[in-house]
Amino acid sequence: MSTTALASVSVDLLVLGVAKDRLEEDLAGLPSDFAARLVEAARADEFSGKAGSLAVYPTYGAIAAPRVALAGVGERSAAELRKAAGKAGYTARERGAGSVHLALGSGAGSSELWESFWAGNYRFDKYRPEASRKPAASQVELGGAPSDLARAVVAGQSFARDLVSEPAAVIFPESLAEACRGLRAEGLEVEVWDEVKIKAEGMGGITAVGQGSANGARFIHMKWVPAGSPRKRIALVGKGVTFDAGGLSIKPSSGMQTMRCDMAGSAAVIGTMKAIAALKPDVEVHGIVGAVENMLGGNAFKLGDILSMYNGKQVEIFNTDAEGRLVLADCLHYACELGVDAVVDIATLTGAAVVALGNDYTALFSKDDDLAATLDRCASEGGEQVWRLPLPDAYKEQLKAEWGHFKNVGGRAAGSITAALFLSEFVDGPAWAHLDIAGPSFNEKASGHFAAGGTGCMVPTLTRWITG
Ligand code: BES
Ligand code: MN
Ligand code: ZN
Repeated sequence: MSTTALASVSVDLLVLGVAKDRLEEDLAGLPSDFAARLVEAARADEFSGKAGSLAVYPTYGAIAAPRVALAGVGERSAAELRKAAGKAGYTARERGAGSVHLALGSGAGSSELWESFWAGNYRFDKYRPEASRKPAASQVELGGAPSDLARAVVAGQSFARDLVSEPAAVIFPESLAEACRGLRAEGLEVEVWDEVKIKAEGMGGITAVGQGSANGARFIHMKWVPAGSPRKRIALVGKGVTFDAGGLSIKPSSGMQTMRCDMAGSAAVIGTMKAIAALKPDVEVHGIVGAVENMLGGNAFKLGDILSMYNGKQVEIFNTDAEGRLVLADCLHYACELGVDAVVDIATLTGAAVVALGNDYTALFSKDDDLAATLDRCASEGGEQVWRLPLPDAYKEQLKAEWGHFKNVGGRAAGSITAALFLSEFVDGPAWAHLDIAGPSFNEKASGHFAAGGTGCMVPTLTRWITG
């Protein structure tokens, strides 16, 4: 953009991309006097151009926009540019900028930047005092209209984030089911089973985990059926533990504080289904959620219980806090009964995944190299990060039980892997992958360009996988 053009952009916040050690060059589009002063200010602030860094300066009338933000774009990789766009969205919200013009330079498509900007601009402000709420941006210009995919992903991801951030008093199994029923208006079929039906159908895992709560379990089946014959048939399965107190193997308060996030897998499925409803792909898509509260009521399931699961196998309970795999197991068998080509489950399954990979990586498990590679590529394209871990049959030893087919826990070693191996015992037929999002699904404090609360992680990845 020419000097006069940049100077006359009339928005609340003008964002300029600055690559590493290219401060002077990348500000050359501004009127030269102002650019020189800005370079000086940025140098004094030790602004380096590192991706994700951002500095805001007043413009004192030198250009039309009252404030300018320098957004570091590092080496200008697509991932770095997305980070900068996300940070711009985040800062716009923090600083109350309603209109934003993004001039990051070439290197990433405008749709990807648009996705990141809006991910950064999201905040869950519903319960904050009026004075500390901040309105979302109303307008962003970034040099191109967003694709339908980008729009659908943003809407689906934001929906998922709302569901995760809501307290467990608001989102419990029935209200989660009600949120899903709301998607009928967008073109999905939605069927919900209550706890009586779940038990009658033989879903012993969901029944056991849910029976310690006054809020009954729900089994939710959302469906997108395209008009013609589908090019593929797939299922997403999500862990919907709306609160995980641990059951009788109760968690300490510190570990329980954020356990409303334990339905983030289901939120990813629901958010993706919302995106699918908007995109209407020629793919048949099933979104399956087991929704329960893992509580300690008088009827709670107990250590030493032996559960008869939906696929007929028996599971011996050694720890009621390893509940997600019990819920997923029944959902996975149901998904297999549908005869789909591929199933991906997604869950905040193990603290061990956080220990292994931290908050920035989703753990990916699959015996299917093609499916694993495809998910990995879709994650890159969606600006997300997955890391594949192995599924060694030898570790199944750790799940061996005296009384049932398996125990529900495998001990301290390789906790995320033994959880995934447990799940594999309930998958028969379709290609299968498991995503453990215990790390990236929820931020206690704002991190990168994501505000505190649910992140809606994997909605960008899964939507791309299904529609790609
Ligand atoms: N919901 C938790 C896992 C979790 C931990 C999610 C931290 C998000 C952040 C899960 O149900 C759980 O409690 N897992 C246990 C398994 C153990 C008992 C084998 C864990 O990770 O400690
Ligand atoms: Mn648990
Ligand atoms: Zn859990």
